[in-house]
Amino acid sequence: MIDLRSDTVTRPTPAMRQAMATAEVGDDVLGDDPTIHRLERHVADLLGKEAALFVPSGTMSNQIALRLHCVPGDEFLIEAESHVLRYEQAAYAQLFGLSAWPVVTSDRVLTPELLAPHVRPNNVHTPRTRLVSLEQTHNRGGGSVLPMDSIERVTRWASEQGLARHLDGARLWNAAVATGISPATWASHFDTVSVCFSKGLGAPVGSALCGPAEAIERARRLRKALGGGMRQAGILAAAALYALEHHVDRLAEDHAHAKRLGEIISACQGLTLDPPRVDTNIVIFRVDEQLGTAADLVAKLDKAGVAMYAIAPQKVRLVTHLDVSGEQIEEACAAIEKVVRG
Ligand SMILES: Cc1ncc(COP(=O)(O)O)c(C=O)c1O
Repeated sequence: MIDLRSDTVTRPTPAMRQAMATAEVGDDVLGDDPTIHRLERHVADLLGKEAALFVPSGTMSNQIALRLHCVPGDEFLIEAESHVLRYEQAAYAQLFGLSAWPVVTSDRVLTPELLAPHVRPNNVHTPRTRLVSLEQTHNRGGGSVLPMDSIERVTRWASEQGLARHLDGARLWNAAVATGISPATWASHFDTVSVCFSKGLGAPVGSALCGPAEAIERARRLRKALGGGMRQAGILAAAALYALEHHVDRLAEDHAHAKRLGEIISACQGLTLDPPRVDTNIVIFRVDEQLGTAADLVAKLDKAGVAMYAIAPQKVRLVTHLDVSGEQIEEACAAIEKVVRG
C-alpha cells in the first residue's frame, strides 16, 4: 500500500531507532532527563525563543498555548478551517472554558480587515477577545504557506489591539524549507509557537511549545495537569533530535513529490486542485460529481493500492512523506490516471 493519508504514518528509521535505543534518560517530571533538556534547548534556539517544552502531541501543545493566553470566559480568533477548530474536539471549551470565534476566509489567509469585526467590545455581555491563532502551513488549506507579509500585517495589528499571537506550526519546518525563511524568522512574529516532530520529520511522538521562559514554566504545570508529564521521555526526544538533524532538508523531496502528484491530478479530467497551487507536502483536489463522490474515488484508489482521505463530500487530500519513495510516487500517479480513466 502506498500510504498518502497523512505524514503522521511514517515509522522511525533504523538509524532513528538506534538513536532512541542509546539515549541517556532520566525522570523528566523530576527534571532529570538530559536528552529532553537537550531537545528543549535546541528547539527553543531554532525558533529564537527563550524556552521550549516537550509535549506528547500537537493537540496538547496548542491547547496548552490557548490556556496560557486566555482564562475561562475569554475568546480567541482563528481561521475557520484551522486544525484547532476542526480536529481538536473544542478541547479549549471542554477543559478551559474558552470560546473560539472562527473567521471565514476565501484562501485561509487572515487579514486585519477580516479580523477586526470579530474583536469584542469591552462589554459585560461578551467574552473578552484575547488571542489570534494562526496555522503554518495550513493543513486544510492544502499545505499552503501563509505569506510572510500577511503574517507581519496580522501579528502587528494583533499587538496593536493588545491581543496575544499563537502559531500552530505543526508543519512550520515545511514552510521553512519551501521558502528558505528560517523557523526563527517565522516564529519571531508570535508569542508562542507549537511545532511537531511526528509529521513530516518522521519521529514517532512529540511536539514542542516554544515561547517566553515564564510562559513555558506555566505550560509545564498545565502539561502535568493534563497527564502529559512523562518519565524517561528521552527516548522520544532522541528521535526528535535525530529528525531535526537528518529529516528537515529532505522535506524538499516530499514537496517535489507533492508537486508531481499535483501535476498529474490537474491533468486528469474531473479532478481539480483546490487550492490550485501545491506549496509543500499536501495536495487537496476536488472530484467532479460525474466521477462520483470523494469517498467513491478513495475506495477505488484504495483497491489500486493507494491510500488517501476524503476530507469533504467532493474533496480528497493526499500527503507525501518520508516513507514514500520517488518510485512509489510514480506508481501512485499511474494508479490515479488509471482509476480516473476507468
Ligand atoms: C496543523 C496541525 N496542527 C496540529 C495537529 C495535531 O497534532 P497531533 O496529531 O500530534 O495532536 C495536526 C495533526 O495532524 C495538524 O495537522
